[in-house]
Amino acid sequence: MTAPLIDPFARPISYLRVSVTDRCDFRCVYCMAEHMSFLPKAELLTLEELDRLCSAFVRLGVEKLRITGGEPLVRRGIMTFFRAMSRHLETGALKELTLTTNGSQLRRFAGELAECGVRRVNVSLDTLDAAKFAEVTRWGRLPQVLDGIKAAKEAGLRVKINAVALKGFNEDEQFSLTDWCAAEGHDLTWIEVMPMGDMGAEDRLDQYWSLDDLRARYAGRYRITDLPERTGGPARYVRLEETGQKIGFITPLTHNFCESCNRVRLTCTGELFMCLGQEDMADLRAPLRASTDDAALEAAIRAAIVRKPKGHDFDYSRQAIGGQMTRHMSHTGG
Ligand code: GTP
Ligand code: 5AD
Ligand code: SF4
Repeated sequence: MTAPLIDPFARPISYLRVSVTDRCDFRCVYCMAEHMSFLPKAELLTLEELDRLCSAFVRLGVEKLRITGGEPLVRRGIMTFFRAMSRHLETGALKELTLTTNGSQLRRFAGELAECGVRRVNVSLDTLDAAKFAEVTRWGRLPQVLDGIKAAKEAGLRVKINAVALKGFNEDEQFSLTDWCAAEGHDLTWIEVMPMGDMGAEDRLDQYWSLDDLRARYAGRYRITDLPERTGGPARYVRLEETGQKIGFITPLTHNFCESCNRVRLTCTGELFMCLGQEDMADLRAPLRASTDDAALEAAIRAAIVRKPKGHDFDYSRQAIGGQMTRHMSHTGG
């Protein structure tokens, strides 16, 4: 028997997020700079290498695999990788294979994703106003994303909408977005904006909209009940009693959830980040390439888990940015 991955704070690591590319066809203002320099393609792990790495994690007890980016669906040949990973669903080793996407390529790929055993997709969508969408994504087009979401639904995938709560930007859409999700049958999760990337501190603080406030606004309109249920991610859920709708809150700033962290992140070059909000990482590409046998790789994974920190240091409470990361969100895929 292989021993499961347990970190120094007794947290079992059962969730791997894999960023398969740092590239994206959007340039969301809170995620990327307008002019990003991307990794040369030669630096990337091949799809076969990604397979070997993910399969090693599955052997070590990872049950949930989330593919992210950048935008995962712009990586060439990515369906080959999804197809390969679906074998771990078939054996029962993997309980969930899923992805977080901006939705732009879903029209093309939703059917194949469903065939590979994907059951849910998380789609980032902060606004339903086409002009505001173009503003926040810089390069995105709302109709294309809405059509992608429709394609996902047609393919039988459940859709969870991720909206980053942005002050002065989508505050006025809290209820319209909520109503749209209810009408379309999508789950909705709000996310507090995190200080990732080298955006100016002033802009970041100006953007920040606390989910305590957003929750209070729901409470002003609905009876809300906290739900015990978990999807294995960091969101905590409430039910709006009048409509039965479920709303998720991801609150790295107002309510730290690190004590229940079960995840690590792999980048497209084989760096393993043990925490989204810390700089420390372990290089898995070297042991991967050093030998065709996975012993050194597994040892490197175990050694990395021993270094998993207690949590992030994100903090805006002193009217300054605490815990800022120079790394952009697109590097680790959120
Ligand atoms: P579910 O399976 O639907 O629960 O997904 P998830 O919330 O785990 O994944 P998703 O990719 O939708 O992530 C939503 C947001 O949560 C992203 O902005 C992530 O950056 C953020 N997030 C996920 N894990 C962590 C974490 O460990 N720490 C922090 N601070 N944020 C996280
Ligand atoms: N803070 C919070 N969420 C972010 N995302 C990207 N950048 C940030 C940030 N700075 C979100 C995206 C997507 C998920 C992967 O991360 O909107 O839903
Ligand atoms: Fe691309 Fe997602 Fe970052 Fe937007 S948040 S630029 S869609 S990776």
